[in-house]
Amino acid sequence: MLEKILQIEKETAALEFQNAQDVENFRLKYLSRKGIINELLDEFRAMGPEQKRETGKPLNALKARLEEILKSHESLKQAGTKTDHSEDLSLPVDGFKVGSRHPITLVKNRLCDIFYSLGFDVSEGPEVEDDWHNFSALNFAEDHPARDMQDTFFTGDFVLRTHTSSVQIREMEKGKPPFRLIMPGRVYRNEAVSSRSNCFFHQIEGLYIDEGVSFADLKQTLYYFVQQFFGEGTKVRFRASYFPFTEPSAEMDIWAGTDTEENRRLTKGTGWLEVLGCGMVHPNVLKNCGIDPEKYSGFAFGMGIDRIALLKYGITDIRDMFHNDVRMLEQLTGAEQ
Ligand code: DAH
Repeated sequence: MLEKILQIEKETAALEFQNAQDVENFRLKYLSRKGIINELLDEFRAMGPEQKRETGKPLNALKARLEEILKSHESLKQAGTKTDHSEDLSLPVDGFKVGSRHPITLVKNRLCDIFYSLGFDVSEGPEVEDDWHNFSALNFAEDHPARDMQDTFFTGDFVLRTHTSSVQIREMEKGKPPFRLIMPGRVYRNEAVSSRSNCFFHQIEGLYIDEGVSFADLKQTLYYFVQQFFGEGTKVRFRASYFPFTEPSAEMDIWAGTDTEENRRLTKGTGWLEVLGCGMVHPNVLKNCGIDPEKYSGFAFGMGIDRIALLKYGITDIRDMFHNDVRMLEQLTGAEQ
């Protein structure tokens, strides 16, 4: 067997390929299903352990070498023969396709850019979380309904994070104020899948902690964001709300209007579209992260990326974004990256 291997090595090293037929003949002789390499592999399988040890390596090396030869001459197959000068080199080349970014990534990048321009850094956290970071440290009571099996995917002692608020905790535990962060990521909820909601989606979390941060700072920051993202002059309103980790809490809506059928449908006839939840970080949350609430205060906010992407690109079924169908992505080629 070793001799055969040597012999083949020699004869193939000297081979010259002129055209596609030579390449194909080579493939048929050595690397096809009934080719020499497969024959040798059959022989190899029938050998005893001692012989196998001796021949395994050289045989594998030979196979790799022949595959390399084949690969390096592959271009001959496409280009016709080496001596064939019939191609018209003055013809324009085919444009090649450049990939396009996913709508979720486009929106996420735009959001991050806006907050980056305000001095927010971007950071990320794990999708598999413990109860402390996803719930307890965020001031969720032991019996809070969000911990319920209905909403949360449990994996042993861990959960698939239900929101990106968990990353706030990780960051505050890690560092010292001031914090000015934006935290994008995927989150999971055990909910029925439909055209409007999915069992996973994407959020972006904001956090600003320093001395003397007030609700006015929160409003001004979000107001700036809305003007940048949805367009100059976009009206906003804040509605009082409740989240365990903020006090006071609010939800922010933007004015979409009631002029079109689509806007009336999206806003359920009110003209207002809910965009995010926000509030002043609860003193208990600061304490849980070893930050003195007497000295520091701050705000947080969280918004869904998927719904914004649906709006922005006129996508009607949220599931269409996750079928990995390139035709969907190709429609967005040329959109802002
Ligand atoms: N975590 C909330 C959710 O998933 C969103 C949220 C609301 C985040 C208020 C915040 C906040 O940081 O302050 O629905």
